[in-house]
Amino acid sequence: MTFSIAAKFNIVFLTIFAVGFGATSLVTNHLLQENAREETLQSARVLMQSALAARSYTAAQIVPLLETRLKYEFLPQSIPSFAATEHLGQLLKQYPDFSYKEATLNPTNLRDRAADWEADLVNTLRAKPALTELVGQRNTATGPALYVARPLQIKSQACLRCHSVPDAAPKTMTDIYGRNNGFGWKHMEIVGAQVVSVPMDVPLQRARAMLNTYMLSMLGIFAFLFIALNIMVHYFVTRRITRMSRLADQVSLGEFNAEEFEVKGSDELSALARSFARMRSSLASAMKMLDE
Ligand code: HEC
Repeated sequence: MTFSIAAKFNIVFLTIFAVGFGATSLVTNHLLQENAREETLQSARVLMQSALAARSYTAAQIVPLLETRLKYEFLPQSIPSFAATEHLGQLLKQYPDFSYKEATLNPTNLRDRAADWEADLVNTLRAKPALTELVGQRNTATGPALYVARPLQIKSQACLRCHSVPDAAPKTMTDIYGRNNGFGWKHMEIVGAQVVSVPMDVPLQRARAMLNTYMLSMLGIFAFLFIALNIMVHYFVTRRITRMSRLADQVSLGEFNAEEFEVKGSDELSALARSFARMRSSLASAMKMLDE
């Protein structure tokens, strides 16, 4: 099998391109995915911070205001956990796939009960109390989501007034929440986790769109180079060599009146053409001498 110069160039060029294209797409894809995850994690952390802010605002500013009324009537609005859950609930109405939950194994308000996957997170945090945060990815009905979980720990004895035994809790509270759940918590126990879940499909789609644009533009540059290379090889090399070889053939058959070799220019092929021209005139005078 024989290959023309252009074909050989193209084979090498295509091979280099295929390897480069594959490697670039792998690396770029990895970077973009990483970036999408980092972006999502950032939104999750902002939400977590917002929940913590609602908690501390309630404890510092709402509870003192309601002190007198709380003696007669139980107001869940004074509970930091309730405030955080409600506040984030309002915020996330616009973003239905986002969620915030104070997922608890034995919750006072049953809406806080940890789902199976959340209970796994709580148990991991209970087993490793040194962990301050768990980050991970899971698949939901609407696509992949990133979660961040932070432990909910009973750090103050004051909490146990309402979370140890029903009789210690205000009657106004047990009238609303009952006596069966949200009790029996221990000092320093990790009873649950704040869990923020943020969908990743939009950032991932964006990453894919960016990858496509990037790889398409690479393909465009390649196509352009490919065409330019072939035109260059044709005009600067192949065309001239073909012509030279045709003339050399004619000369070798004794046709000394064939057209002249093209001797202008200063590149290697012009030098070769000059050599041929010289050889041709030497050959012509040698023949003439023989004829005489
Ligand atoms: C005055 C009683 C009271 C005190 C004191 C109290 N809580 Fe609660 N806690 C509640 C009530 C009531 C709820 C349920 C609120 C709701 O409806 O969301 C609750 C909910 C929670 C939840 C969410 C899970 C669940 O049980 O529904 C966590 C976590 C929690 N409390 C932790 C604490 C911590 C930590 C402290 C101490 C800093 C504390 N609580 C002090 C009454 C109390």
